[in-house]
Amino acid sequence: MGDVVVGLSMSLDGFIAGANDGPGNPLGDGGARLFDWWSAGTETLGADDRFRPPARSRAVVEEMFDCGAVITGRRTFDIADGWGGHHPVGAPFFLLTHDPPGRHVGPGTDGTVVTDGIESALEQARAVAGDGDIAVGAAQVAQQYLNAGLLDVVHLNLVPVLLGAGVRLFANLKRHPRDLECTRVVESDGVTHLRYRVMK
Ligand SMILES: NC(=O)c1ccc[n+]([C@@H]2O[C@H](COP(=O)([O-])OP(=O)(O)OC[C@H]3O[C@@H](n4cnc5c(N)ncnc54)[C@H](OP(=O)(O)O)[C@@H]3O)[C@@H](O)[C@H]2O)c1
Repeated sequence: MGDVVVGLSMSLDGFIAGANDGPGNPLGDGGARLFDWWSAGTETLGADDRFRPPARSRAVVEEMFDCGAVITGRRTFDIADGWGGHHPVGAPFFLLTHDPPGRHVGPGTDGTVVTDGIESALEQARAVAGDGDIAVGAAQVAQQYLNAGLLDVVHLNLVPVLLGAGVRLFANLKRHPRDLECTRVVESDGVTHLRYRVMK
């Protein structure tokens, strides 16, 4: 069985997006800085030429993309316009929402709406992922898996910028302190990749 992994780009002060994020301002004020490293290299990863990670990040990014399914939240989905119904990692995605959107999910897309909670989303994701990892791609959703004891791995792409405000990754923690074991550090260009196993 694969791990449940949250893998996000985060500022040194703990934000995955700046203040005032929304469809017109996808990563919030100053938040685009968190994704600069994604196009700081020369070699394209896959078909999308926005993805040009530095050579030292390449193996890490390939690992992030090599997942069996993605679980995401409605704010991320809306801001990304539902990725046109096909998530960039190329895996089926499961959208947690209380109010199903009218497009980019369902037949002809890779998206499935889940309205009955995180356990249901995980069960459906595992059913399609086989032994692959399940990537959790949003903060509020990751917090719920962490609080429920269902998150196995935290993968941070730590960017040396202080955003000062915005969407905090580690908010709403129900249990703390929480211990994590650092299993890998990769220093790259404009980003440090940190991988931790969550101690249960
Ligand atoms: N830095 C990075 O690597 C990175 C990556 C991805 C996203 N982002 C950024 O992260 C921000 C969005 O993250 P976020 O944490 O604010 O929001 P989010 O997790 O994407 O979405 C939260 C919303 O999802 C729905 N939801 C969550 N849990 C649910 C549940 N158990 N059942 C039903 N619905 C549920 C709710 O919406 P409804 O009640 O409206 O349905 C909730 O308001 C954006 O700024 C995005 O650009 C950054």
